[in-house]
Amino acid sequence: MVAIVVSLASTLLSVASSASPSSSTSFLTKLRSAPSFRLSFAVTPLGYRRGRLMAHTIAKATLGLTQPNAIELPKISFAAKEIDVTEWKGDILAVGVTEKDLTKDENSKFENPILKKLDSHLGGLLAEASSEEDFTGKTGQSTVLRLPGLGSKRVGLIGLGQSASSTADFRGLGEAVAAAAKAAQSAEVAIVLASSEGLSVESKLSTASAIVSGTVLGTHDDNRYRSESKKPTIKSVDILGLGTGPEVEKKLKYAEDLSSGILFGKELVNSPANVLTPAVLAEEASKIAATYSDVLSAKILDVEQCKELKMGSYLGVAAASANPPRFIHLTYKPPSGDVKTKLALVGKGLTFDSGGYNIKTGPGCSIELMKFDMGGSAVVLGAAKAIGQIKPAGVEVHFIVAACENMISGTGMRPGDIVTASNGKTIEVNNTDAEGRLTLADALVYACNQGAEKIVDLATLTGACVVALGPSIAGVFSPSDDLANEVLAASESGGEKIWRLPLEESYWESMKSGIADMVNTGGRQGGAITAALFLKQFVDEKVQWMHIDMAGPVWNDKKRSATGFGISTLVEWVVKNSS
Ligand code: BES
Ligand code: MN
Ligand code: ZN
Repeated sequence: MVAIVVSLASTLLSVASSASPSSSTSFLTKLRSAPSFRLSFAVTPLGYRRGRLMAHTIAKATLGLTQPNAIELPKISFAAKEIDVTEWKGDILAVGVTEKDLTKDENSKFENPILKKLDSHLGGLLAEASSEEDFTGKTGQSTVLRLPGLGSKRVGLIGLGQSASSTADFRGLGEAVAAAAKAAQSAEVAIVLASSEGLSVESKLSTASAIVSGTVLGTHDDNRYRSESKKPTIKSVDILGLGTGPEVEKKLKYAEDLSSGILFGKELVNSPANVLTPAVLAEEASKIAATYSDVLSAKILDVEQCKELKMGSYLGVAAASANPPRFIHLTYKPPSGDVKTKLALVGKGLTFDSGGYNIKTGPGCSIELMKFDMGGSAVVLGAAKAIGQIKPAGVEVHFIVAACENMISGTGMRPGDIVTASNGKTIEVNNTDAEGRLTLADALVYACNQGAEKIVDLATLTGACVVALGPSIAGVFSPSDDLANEVLAASESGGEKIWRLPLEESYWESMKSGIADMVNTGGRQGGAITAALFLKQFVDEKVQWMHIDMAGPVWNDKKRSATGFGISTLVEWVVKNSS
């Protein structure tokens, strides 16, 4: 009897192991047929025990046998050129036009010099076609025409609205061009603004950069979990009319580095929790550090090491899970020169949030989306990937994630339990679903111990913040006006929306416990604020600290996909702190 059971179990296990990847292949580019890991399989006096992974391997026998496919990220080569639009040769010449650019004179001819020039080469067809198609230049409008008479096979008109000036506008242009290139199966693309003469050198640079990142992000489809998919066709993008030379080239490289970080972050968030466990997240972080080992190093702590550091608050959350927690710490040091500022980025890394015993039920609780509850950690690791390539001088950056799952089991934390954080403070857990703050408490204490002068944490922390600011704006909290202004400025260059909310100390009243130093949740009112006040208990007063609640913008419901929100802003902020 025992023998039959054992052989059955081992058959099942061998199926699981043959579908598993080797630990050396990247999470982003895993091959379906990759070799298996080793299993230890023990027969006990009670009959049999399930196969266990060797202690030194990572538990990757994925539930459901899912492995992400090897899909290369879009490799597009960008170049800034000054070529006459009528002479440029390729598949699509995309022209960004505002509503104003489309005004016509008394003879129904374009007044805008670029449109006028194109139109005269096309015998007036551009003006005709654009009015027939009722193209008015509104944001989101675009039309692609297949016309003879130019070096380019097609001309695309992409609407920029009444005026275009922000990073978000030009990122939108890049995304629209990517969509047009996809529809027309184009490889060689050029992008030009109908009106770029008025722009300062500085704004030309940031415009070019935003167009590049928009194009990369727009080209990327996350097809790793589909059994079939098409490759993007786009190969090269020439940016016309925004200058040439080393300054623009440096900016284009910055945009490409940033975009690779954003894509990485998006893929992390999109990955389901059965694939992206805390151990896999830690492995991905280690791979980033290994790839840019000239400037990055990785330290990964397991349960035992976290216990030694007395991280009772974080480990309380992890206690119910079969997938063990991993505390991730990457350090960036500049390739040469002194460090003038030490920064830390701390991200909430819940690879899944079931709520725990306070399980997420009820309509609208979105339990099936809670794979995105590691969105903060994706910002931190996406930023690490970008910064590993940009290599800013004069700053040291610590990237910190206390990764775990919030599950339910007999070993899990109960509502009412008291946990003790690594700074000695005690917390009565009156709601196990307010778990993110419990993990961040120990991560923030750890960040302060690294000697960071400025700490920014990012977390999909509260539904209350989504109620307050909706799906596209993150709430930010900071006792420091200086840091708040720095990050607000960075978010503008980064093209992301954040809004400062108050750390109202009088609301701390609701966080008092009858038995411990504090509870982990106050009432329903001001939920994003009481969460931020909770985090503040774990930050040294001499450290400048900001908390970003990104529960809304982490996810795009319409696209059913991660947004990559936060990475642009944080990379921008780190670079602004460099010297
Ligand atoms: N991960 C959630 C926050 C969340 C909710 C993000 C919805 C995105 C969409 C967090 O861990 C949580 O459950 N927060 C609770 C806190 C409450 C128990 C005080 C919430 O917001 O309901
Ligand atoms: Mn929760
Ligand atoms: Zn959560």
